[in-house]
Amino acid sequence: MSEILIKNGNIVTSNNVYKSDILIKDSKIELIDINIKTNSPNVKIIDAQSMYVLPGAIDPHVHMELPTPAGNSSDDFRTGSIAALAGGTTSIIDFVTPSKGQSFIEALNLRKKEAEKSLIDYGFHMSPTWWGKNSANEMKKCVIEEGITSFKTYLAYKKVVGISDEILINVMKTAKDLNALVTLHCENGDIVDFLKNKFISEGKTQTKYHVLSRPPEVESEAVNRATTFAKLVGCPIYIVHVSTKQSIDIIKKAQESGQKVYAETCPHYLLLDKNIFNKNDFSQTAPYVLSPALRTKEHRNKLWNALSNNIINTVASDHCPFNVIGQKDVGINDFTKIPNGAGGVEHRLSLLYTYGVSANLITINQFVDLIATNPAKIFGLSHRKGKIAKGMDADIVIWNPDKEEIISAKTHKQNCDSNIFENYKVKGMPEIVIANGKIALENDTVNVNDLKGNYLFRKVQK
Ligand code: URP
Ligand code: ZN
Ligand code: ZN
Repeated sequence: MSEILIKNGNIVTSNNVYKSDILIKDSKIELIDINIKTNSPNVKIIDAQSMYVLPGAIDPHVHMELPTPAGNSSDDFRTGSIAALAGGTTSIIDFVTPSKGQSFIEALNLRKKEAEKSLIDYGFHMSPTWWGKNSANEMKKCVIEEGITSFKTYLAYKKVVGISDEILINVMKTAKDLNALVTLHCENGDIVDFLKNKFISEGKTQTKYHVLSRPPEVESEAVNRATTFAKLVGCPIYIVHVSTKQSIDIIKKAQESGQKVYAETCPHYLLLDKNIFNKNDFSQTAPYVLSPALRTKEHRNKLWNALSNNIINTVASDHCPFNVIGQKDVGINDFTKIPNGAGGVEHRLSLLYTYGVSANLITINQFVDLIATNPAKIFGLSHRKGKIAKGMDADIVIWNPDKEEIISAKTHKQNCDSNIFENYKVKGMPEIVIANGKIALENDTVNVNDLKGNYLFRKVQK
């Protein structure tokens, strides 16, 4: 039996910060108490004096080895999970994206195989990209037999994975009957396609037209539609990567009316500005081609405010990196061909801590809610993860509030030749990460030999 004893740390929960020791036995938290003693000869003792002790973070939105015409996103489950651990994330929820006509369960089994190389625990959202007579039954199998309690729908990317309103309503109705959650990428795909085609036909091919083809209204129209449908169908929803102030107003109104509408944003929408596209250099702008597009300060202020007022419930990374050389550069003469997305799984916590907690925009308790406790609750993992308590999985981050780093693609663990937060300074980083009761990160090194992630069977919210 392996034991780890964490001494003198400041444990952070949703509503408290308190000093206590934690004893871990094998993969579970065995005891939380002051001044724990053990006489086990094999115990590893960690002195966490002046450190925060956080629950292992859960990133509910990542795309490891996502297939695209420009190749897979550049982190696979192994490299992506190493980067995740380096930043304090011990569980991820990725996606199963069946091709049109493919059985959801068949696609899930193939995806499970790809994810076996993950060093951290992983689950999946299922994406109904099409609808047939067996689809409702397949959704039921996902929930009951596979522990998949959330269904991701795309209102954008119409020619690839995007669905019609009719299919969305079918998915919502089925999810409601199963007590499951529908998550949505909210952008109006038809109007995006119209704007993209218009720019290309006018010879406007540079990266800045990516942003101009996805103005804020493209998102807020879809958020409005999603919340309206959800209300009429009676289905709880979760809106991924919210980026605009208009969306926040719609979400707030729906929440205030009693609707179950959860919202997520990402560090890039909280920190980066669309004026990055004023540079005319492809390699400096292509990394920022992601969807929804980057916005302005006005939107960012509203997002921070929505975090502090608990309107936004989670901060996810939407980790989806592509190299500039060999991947993003397929679109050097046509922005519509650039694979959308950027890496972020490694620095989600340190960015949110530095620019949120230390800047007094959110509290340390809200920080823990946003990165761990709320994702666990919303996505059916709170019986095992998302908080530090006796009997929970021993996924723990010893957080050093004084540790500093300047983010750079030269030093990051993400497998990508750029980093959208290049030169961002962070203060507050993991010192030690424990995953499933094992030391996963120590001395800035991920202990790759000792770790193996497990498939996460999730539970529906009643
Ligand atoms: O640009 C992005 N966000 N790429 C990843 C896929 C998605 O839309 O979330
Ligand atoms: Zn998306
Ligand atoms: Zn995504």
